[in-house]
Amino acid sequence: MAVKKIKDRIYWVGAIDWDRVIFDELVTLPEGTSYNAYIVFGSEKTALIDTVEPHKGKELLANLKELKVERIDYIISNHAEQDHSGMIPEILKLYPEAKVVTNKKCKQMLIDLLHLPQDVFKVVEDGETLSLGDKTLQFFLAPWVHWPETMFTYAVEDRVLFTCDFLGSHIAISEIFDTSDENKARVYLETKRYYAEIMMPFRNFIKKHLALIDRLNPEVLAPSHGVVIKETTFILDAYKRWVSDEVKPLVIIPFISMHESTRHMVDFVTSELSKRGVTVRPYNLTTADIGNAAMDLVDAAGIIFASPTVLAGAHPAIISFAYLVNCLRPKTKLASVIGSYGWNGTVTVKHIKETLRNLKVEWIEPVMVKGLPKEEDYQRLRQLAEEIATKVKEVATL
Ligand SMILES: Cc1cc2nc3c(=O)[nH]c(=O)nc-3n(C[C@H](O)[C@H](O)[C@H](O)COP(=O)(O)O)c2cc1C
Ligand SMILES: [Fe+2]
Ligand SMILES: [Fe+2]
Repeated sequence: MAVKKIKDRIYWVGAIDWDRVIFDELVTLPEGTSYNAYIVFGSEKTALIDTVEPHKGKELLANLKELKVERIDYIISNHAEQDHSGMIPEILKLYPEAKVVTNKKCKQMLIDLLHLPQDVFKVVEDGETLSLGDKTLQFFLAPWVHWPETMFTYAVEDRVLFTCDFLGSHIAISEIFDTSDENKARVYLETKRYYAEIMMPFRNFIKKHLALIDRLNPEVLAPSHGVVIKETTFILDAYKRWVSDEVKPLVIIPFISMHESTRHMVDFVTSELSKRGVTVRPYNLTTADIGNAAMDLVDAAGIIFASPTVLAGAHPAIISFAYLVNCLRPKTKLASVIGSYGWNGTVTVKHIKETLRNLKVEWIEPVMVKGLPKEEDYQRLRQLAEEIATKVKEVATL
């Protein structure tokens, strides 16, 4: 894809992966993705900010050719993960005069991951500046906006903040500044999905990074995936809501049912909660896109795990999802378990609760049913729905 101008002598030179369907062998990409690299031409020095995933490396090189880049003085590495650093060795071959500018932690990771030599680096500290002549770059350590070594680079005079994975979205789009309503809706959802899958566990770090960004007050946010953001408050306000402690009156019900018993319970609870004004989203884990469920977990008040008992525990698909929830550490306030069993259902509840040991929630008394639910079981489920609905309304402020 052709280069795109961001500001005077600042260009997008990345690559778009239109048909990539999975990232990190874990998250689905309904909208493809992009790897955003940028080039900044100062009056004296030229800096390349990040690179691209190596299988798209040719596109980066073609973009540098299009801009007739003869010399790169600095390769700024904001994040060591290979989707942004993977082309550094190739760039160094083509531009042997370049120095890799990054922080101490990222330097070591680049050495470990890419076998870069020690002497190719220029290490920068938090807040340090680098002059390109009439343009200045400033670096800010921003740990845990994906990995411990992540940092931001600020083009001071132009007020463009390069945030690596932070504030990004997996979107493949040729108009990187597209602000049509349709695209705005897409950017909102895909940024939320990205936050849910990648950033959510680091909520408390992110609060500090958002305060830094407020202080810098950039005009343009230039992340390393998806669109370049000119409407900064739109995305920053969304992020502030997501990292806050506030939740919506929303309950998600991840479920599995082999012979429909648990499914009857899920259908009943869904309807009972809905009657009481709570938004409910059941996710059949055999077919659901886990990313959608993760997105709901960004601000859901509650989660009900619904599982049959299988080989003295919960169904493996439920445990796999519960494990993911435990890693993502959502701010969800309430949780419970429902399900069906043949001869002993207590093991299922124990299995799920043990898997979710990081989750700081109030556990509501579970409802486990022997076989197909009977009238008295529906009565217990109705009580469960009543209790959850009351508590959801107490805690939901969004
Ligand atoms: C592969 C398999 C393993 C099972 N293992 C157990 C078990 O260890 N303990 C138990 O109480 N029930 C066990 N059951 C019985 C189911 O939990 C029971 O049939 C339940 O009603 C299924 O709920 P469902 O209709 O929602 O799939 C097992 C059933 C299957 C098919
Ligand atoms: Fe990353
Ligand atoms: Fe990335």
